[in-house]
Amino acid sequence: MMFIRSKLIGFGHCLPAKILTNDDLSHMVETSDEWIRSRTGIRSRHIAETETTSVIAGQAVSNAIKDAGLKPEDIDLLILASITPDNTTPSTAVKIAGNLGFRSGVPAFDISAACSGFVYALTLADNMIRLGQVKTAVIAGAECLSKIVDWQDRNTCVLFGDGAGAVVLQAEAGTGKSSDRGVLSTHIYADGALYDCLKTTGGVSSTQSPGVVTMDGKEVFKHAVVSLAEAAEVVLQEAGLSKSNIDWLIPHQANVRIVDSVRQRLEIPEDKVIITLDHHGNTSAASIPLALSESHQKGLFKDGDVLVLTAMGAGFTWGGAVIRL
Ligand code: ACO
Repeated sequence: MMFIRSKLIGFGHCLPAKILTNDDLSHMVETSDEWIRSRTGIRSRHIAETETTSVIAGQAVSNAIKDAGLKPEDIDLLILASITPDNTTPSTAVKIAGNLGFRSGVPAFDISAACSGFVYALTLADNMIRLGQVKTAVIAGAECLSKIVDWQDRNTCVLFGDGAGAVVLQAEAGTGKSSDRGVLSTHIYADGALYDCLKTTGGVSSTQSPGVVTMDGKEVFKHAVVSLAEAAEVVLQEAGLSKSNIDWLIPHQANVRIVDSVRQRLEIPEDKVIITLDHHGNTSAASIPLALSESHQKGLFKDGDVLVLTAMGAGFTWGGAVIRL
């Protein structure tokens, strides 16, 4: 029996031009570089001024397609994970497909799963590829979180940033074993009982405005550490691998203390964990694909490396994936 795998064949990212440092923030709210760095690990973040989500996501998608050695007309599916669309409708994915010149008829849609959005998108695209519905897919995560942050609230405004990342997946014959290259396992979760812990203060049908982000930081922290570690363990088991097989752990980039607790629970050495939150902040759905693309560009990855992705965010939603490059 033929077994189809979704192989990662291209990476791309894009960051808005403006950089906002912790010192800059200390002139906007009562905070300091020392407080932000010691509590979160964040030093700076990019902020969209003229750029919109479709602009940075479109650039990331275009870069990923080029990196794969393909053209926009080769793409059969586009999924964008984002909670900060250009317009309420149509989807930002459709706008990108139009701007880049994807073939007419190619499905393109957004998904909303907050910081887990990219892992959700990866799960959907991988399933469609393995079912034989599409051959080549682009999945992206992109956010302009600066547009839904309360810039007077020091509890939240220091945490977030803007950016976009994308990867190209392509169907390739595999054996069904864990030695295959491509996506080896994915698992996504949600628990709506925790809806109020992390949310915006409004939305289209309730207040007719997107609102601003509010959160119970301690509650988020507590759940994030457990969910991120558990999702990683589940997907490793489902892939038929163990912690010792991990070459790179790529966790959602929210806070260095969360990442470090997850790393310790998984008993992984520090040099196997990708950290980009120091210069990106928390970019929600963009954080994992940004980390993937930057690491690829730096030449960190080699063929055959096992990547474990793990994410958690508003909803709560969470999930993980194991990929062999
Ligand atoms: N600068 C200075 N002081 C601040 C700031 C700031 N930017 N923000 C809060 N404080 C103050 C608080 O007001 C509080 O003061 P008080 O004691 O007088 O009331 C004090 O610092 C301590 O606040 P705590 O909430 O106890 O600080 P804590 O050590 O828990 O860190 C943090 C707060 C960083 C938000 C932490 O709870 C956290 O990381 N939570 C996870 C949240 C997260 O990453 N969310 C992102 C979205 S979810 C996700 O992506 C998984």
